[in-house]
Amino acid sequence: MNKLTVNGKSVTVDVDPATPLLWVIRDEIGLKGTKFGCGIGMCGACTVHLDGRAIRSCITPVSAVADAQITTIEGLGAGLGGSASSGKDGQHPLQIAWIATQAPQCGYCQSGQIMQAATLLKDYPNPTDANIDAVMSGNLCRCMAYVRIRKAIKLAAESTHTTAQATTLQETKQEQTHA
Ligand code: FES
Ligand code: FES
Repeated sequence: MNKLTVNGKSVTVDVDPATPLLWVIRDEIGLKGTKFGCGIGMCGACTVHLDGRAIRSCITPVSAVADAQITTIEGLGAGLGGSASSGKDGQHPLQIAWIATQAPQCGYCQSGQIMQAATLLKDYPNPTDANIDAVMSGNLCRCMAYVRIRKAIKLAAESTHTTAQATTLQETKQEQTHA
């Protein structure tokens, strides 16, 4: 038996400890948002978060994640597992930006792209093109949606700052009111 925590819920699965986390997520737990692409850690389609950092679930044995918080695309918007701040209507700012920019074409690579981008924004809240290229280059898109993905990442970064500024302004006003 293997115990793990996925999107804030404790799960026990009866699989070989060497089973890739990807197949546990998809076939044992039934969360289909995480995709299989290459199976050798080269495309990024299977990207999930391990304690808030992007990993390739196709090359991660389930035995390696027993004490960790796993977050999939289904849990990202709720800020589960320390992955991200909650967004509007349970969506991460990246998911909102992805919709606003209509970033996907076929969509197959996109959950992996978003999970990788969430790590990018943690490290680079104002990412430059070079930052985006460096962090996102391992996430391949056969539809070549890279220009829209870049645009969506920048939009999400901007919206996060705008929200943070609005919150700070509101808090400052409240403090002044109660002073
Ligand atoms: S399926 Fe995991 S990196 Fe390609
Ligand atoms: S949108 Fe089709 S593979 Fe990326």
